[in-house]
Amino acid sequence: MNKYGKVAVVMGGTSAEREVSLMSGKGVLEALLARGVDAHAFDPATKPLDALKTEGFDRAFLILHGPFGEDGTLQGALEVMGIPYTGCGVLASALGMDKLRSKLIWQALGLPIPAFEILTESSDFTAIEQKLGLPLFVKPACEGSSIGVSKVKNTGELASAFKEAYKYDKIVIAEQFIGGGEYTAAVLGEQVLSFVKIEPATEFYDYEAKYIRDDTVYRCPAGLSAQLNEQIAGYVKQAFWALGGKGWARIDFLMDEAGKPYLLEANTAPGMTSHSLFPMAAREAGLSYEDLVLQVLNSTLE
Ligand SMILES: Nc1ncnc2c1ncn2[C@@H]1O[C@H](COP(=O)(O)OP(=O)(O)O)[C@@H](O)[C@H]1O
Ligand SMILES: [Mg+2]
Repeated sequence: MNKYGKVAVVMGGTSAEREVSLMSGKGVLEALLARGVDAHAFDPATKPLDALKTEGFDRAFLILHGPFGEDGTLQGALEVMGIPYTGCGVLASALGMDKLRSKLIWQALGLPIPAFEILTESSDFTAIEQKLGLPLFVKPACEGSSIGVSKVKNTGELASAFKEAYKYDKIVIAEQFIGGGEYTAAVLGEQVLSFVKIEPATEFYDYEAKYIRDDTVYRCPAGLSAQLNEQIAGYVKQAFWALGGKGWARIDFLMDEAGKPYLLEANTAPGMTSHSLFPMAAREAGLSYEDLVLQVLNSTLE
């Protein structure tokens, strides 16, 4: 496995998702070591990034979530340093982090997305509740892990949901509720893997359902018809391409009660814990966790 040289598994970092990243990173590191790669943990919270150069690393496997890891800034620094890294580049990472900009791009291509409105302090909240209908979802444009996300069920609650989301980002979106099921599509290189259906026991797939409770049900394959699978895989490929995606990403989507799909968001730094969705989809495609990690690393050789 010398073709990879010395590999840094960049994990941890300073974002709110540090702990999740450390869990994912541990899995990735163990998988690379098991396949004979000269891999080492590298936590940018504990040393400056230029240690990647001084310590002689040849490439980086990025498994950081959130700001300074998933949003294009780290990718830009690595470009400048001349260190090849896994996954999406500067543009796709920055766009994927920003739900508003990814929506605008997908919308321009005619891809299906839930109706939405940008909220500001001076928005007419009553009019927006009427326009999008209740329930509706409110979320910060640039966050993750369902932080700052609320489901507004009753008239007059939109303003307080806006205030909650506004704590996390100055750009806040209100979105039409799509209630026929939640899914994710794992994109690996040119391939869209089997969808995973997510069935949270909670009101929606919130932080607790993602990381704390163990009663969220995941189904892979997701049980959609062959025709829908094909149609949605087409949307997912276009959505990934439109952001400038490379290597891997997860594109989440929702279905309405009539069986019509809507793209929800892109995640350019997929979780890689033992319970994460990407390894689940890979397994269904006959790829072990270790195969998957190696295939992602291979994208740095291109
Ligand atoms: N328009 C919507 N309709 C139905 N559920 C939604 C909608 N938007 C968000 N949700 C729920 O909220 C969760 C978090 O929202 P999401 O946009 O994925 O933000 P995050 O980046 O924090 O994961 C989703 O996984 C889903 O369960
Ligand atoms: Mg999400």
